[in-house]
Amino acid sequence: MTNILCIGAGYVGGPTMAVIASHCPQDRVVVVDINEARINAWQSDHLPIYEPGLDEVVRSALGRNLFFSTDVNRNIAEADIIFVSVNTPTKNFGQGAGRAADLQYWEKTARQIVENSTSSKVVVEKSTLPVRTAEAMEQILNYNSAGLHFDIISNPEFLAEGTAIQDMQHPDRVLIGGKDSPTGQKAVQAIVDIYAHWVPRDRIITTNLWSSELSKLAANAFLAQRVSSINAISALCEKTGADVNEVSHAIGLDNRIGRHFLKASVGFGGSCFRKDILNLVYLCEYYGLSEVATYWEQVIKMNDHQQMRFVSNMVSSMFNTVAGKRIALFGAAFKANTSDTRESPALAVCRALLEERANIVLTDPHALDNARTDLGGAAKMVCFEPDPYAAAKDAHAIAILTDWAQYVDLDYEAIYKSMVKPAFIFDGRNILDHKKLHSIGFNVYAIGKPPLTHNQVS
Ligand code: NAD
Ligand code: UGA
Repeated sequence: MTNILCIGAGYVGGPTMAVIASHCPQDRVVVVDINEARINAWQSDHLPIYEPGLDEVVRSALGRNLFFSTDVNRNIAEADIIFVSVNTPTKNFGQGAGRAADLQYWEKTARQIVENSTSSKVVVEKSTLPVRTAEAMEQILNYNSAGLHFDIISNPEFLAEGTAIQDMQHPDRVLIGGKDSPTGQKAVQAIVDIYAHWVPRDRIITTNLWSSELSKLAANAFLAQRVSSINAISALCEKTGADVNEVSHAIGLDNRIGRHFLKASVGFGGSCFRKDILNLVYLCEYYGLSEVATYWEQVIKMNDHQQMRFVSNMVSSMFNTVAGKRIALFGAAFKANTSDTRESPALAVCRALLEERANIVLTDPHALDNARTDLGGAAKMVCFEPDPYAAAKDAHAIAILTDWAQYVDLDYEAIYKSMVKPAFIFDGRNILDHKKLHSIGFNVYAIGKPPLTHNQVS
């Protein structure tokens, strides 16, 4: 039996360890966190995060070989392999503020590991980290007086929220980076052996530490870049009469380009794209690669522009003012099938419309609690309404901000009847049937498409 520990029971730590425990019944998997409420929630009927398929996987192993605990120190002492999955947000103070990764939680964890260890261990970087973090980790861990040896492995996580369980059950690849030393390679093998319980061996890739750390940042940067690229094209579509869905389909059929991540939207959100690109930008600047830094920074600038362009379109189409108008925002989560609202474009749009003094009603099937927290002081100016029909009643406009499937099948005839006229709908996810909405009577504005409006002046 191997004692596997994961420090950090968040969106990554909880689901990944549940999947490992379910496939490795011979091993003991413990997930620890300093957040007691989170640990309690993992052991309750209401898991701390909403993720399709997660309940079943957790239930299959909880209490058998999957355990959650707040006792970090004791579990460090007992572990053979420690995954570290703590948060690595963007630093908001001092050198590198607004760009560099804030590694304070990371370093605290490393010190805690060395202080509480009585045996040598494998320590796995699961969090997303700047390239060469393992070097610092190694120094902190291996300068100990007890003669203990720690091998550092990089095993970045590629799961996407909303499809986390599916992504982990059938990953495109598992990446494991380690040192080219005998103990380093033994440690790599130990991690390969865990995943080999359910991942085909040819999908488990091993590299050196730095390639593994950098591949994670690069993968997120490439994905975000595709979204910003198609969003840049969407702006041009709106000026020229081209339809971004048709352009996206046409270019995506080229195998060299591929069809994924070409869906124009109100912008990308989520806890990682922005932070990881900023981190990449900071690293490039640190190494004196200013042109490379500028190149990647543009991906974020385009995303900010897309979100604010959406708001400007709303205001200008609604006769240049939304002050005092009730606007229903459909969706708070940064994408469908998650309750996560971190960096959600929906909240950016919400804040910008509040600045314009609109009366905002926010609806979402799973993310209203997180939205209330993430909006902070602005939350008191927002009405939170779980029912989309009630949210739209007496509204001047609806904006679709999250691609929840249930928003496609609503009774838009009934919704139209309940709204103030002329009624506007802004589809920030291009998920609705725009022609049908237009025939119902809506003025329809979609991303990257010509607007479908009714002549308001006779
Ligand atoms: P999260 O904020 O949901 O969870 C991190 C957890 O670590 C928190 O519950 C926090 O209380 C805990 N923690 C912090 N310091 C601790 C300490 N000293 N001891 C014990 N617990 C501690 O973050 P997340 O979304 O799970 O992301 C974790 C890492 O994984 C980040 O580096 C992120 O970039 C990366 N990642 C995230 C995703 C994702 O979809 N969210 C996907 C791939 C990679
Ligand atoms: C992303 C990556 O897809 C994961 O591989 C990675 O592990 C993770 O970041 C991370 O490091 O945290 P995630 O942020 O959960 O996963 O979700 P995505 O599916 O990548 O979507 C990100 C954002 O881009 C969402 O707001 C989504 O709506 C938007 N998006 C995505 C588009 O606007 N258009 C697209 O075509 C695709």
